[in-house]
Amino acid sequence: MKPGELLYEGKAKRLYFTEDPNVLRVKYKDSATAFNGQKKATIAGKGEMNNRISALFFRFLKEAGVPNHFIDKISDLEQLVQKVTIVPLEVVVRNRVAGTLQKRTGLAEGTVLKQPIVEFYYKSDELGDPLFTEDHIRAMELATPVQLQEMREIGLRVNEVVGKLMLEQGIILVDFKLEFGLDSEGKLLLADEVSPDTCRFWDADTLEKLDKDRFRQDLGNVMGAYQEIYNRLEGKSHV
Ligand code: TMP
Repeated sequence: MKPGELLYEGKAKRLYFTEDPNVLRVKYKDSATAFNGQKKATIAGKGEMNNRISALFFRFLKEAGVPNHFIDKISDLEQLVQKVTIVPLEVVVRNRVAGTLQKRTGLAEGTVLKQPIVEFYYKSDELGDPLFTEDHIRAMELATPVQLQEMREIGLRVNEVVGKLMLEQGIILVDFKLEFGLDSEGKLLLADEVSPDTCRFWDADTLEKLDKDRFRQDLGNVMGAYQEIYNRLEGKSHV
């Protein structure tokens, strides 16, 4: 693990080692994928915008008392983060029906849920990230019961504070996906990214989609939507 060496290449980011064994450099890419990589494209400017938006959310969340891996944004495409061992689960929190919840339930898109739903998906490209119950997770020892409870609580806390922040900008937080990692002391930290790639954002007045669904559903103007999210947030916070 030499400084500068590639540790991991994902669909939207690359991770590099740095001089400090506890710190990684994340480089955001312009690539967009959907449906487990079946649909692919390059969207010029997406990496830069997601780096900005993700840095902004991580800073905001740190201030709101949500521990996360973010250290600093160091260039247009890069940030430094704490090295963590990723828990192989995607934690999805939903406020309204959309995406796979719409397919699973048959409810109309946009239906407001009586209470937020927290779901866990097993991170496995080969299996297509299947939905797991807590029993699956325990039986496969993917996380301890305490970690599961903590991920659920942090997910709901993120939902509360980010939901409120977005609503102040005239945006509905429909749903989002989080990933967690364990640091060298075994502490659970929010990791990966928080951006329009990993959240569903709708304009509160028009219900226009301002997130990766524009790419998934071929709605066009993906970058215009991401820029709109950044512009509205920028009025509030400083990156
Ligand atoms: P879904 O409705 O497709 O299950 O997605 C739920 C939320 O999770 C939505 O905000 C998009 C996000 N998401 C990711 O960030 N990565 C993924 O691989 C998937 C499937 C969803």
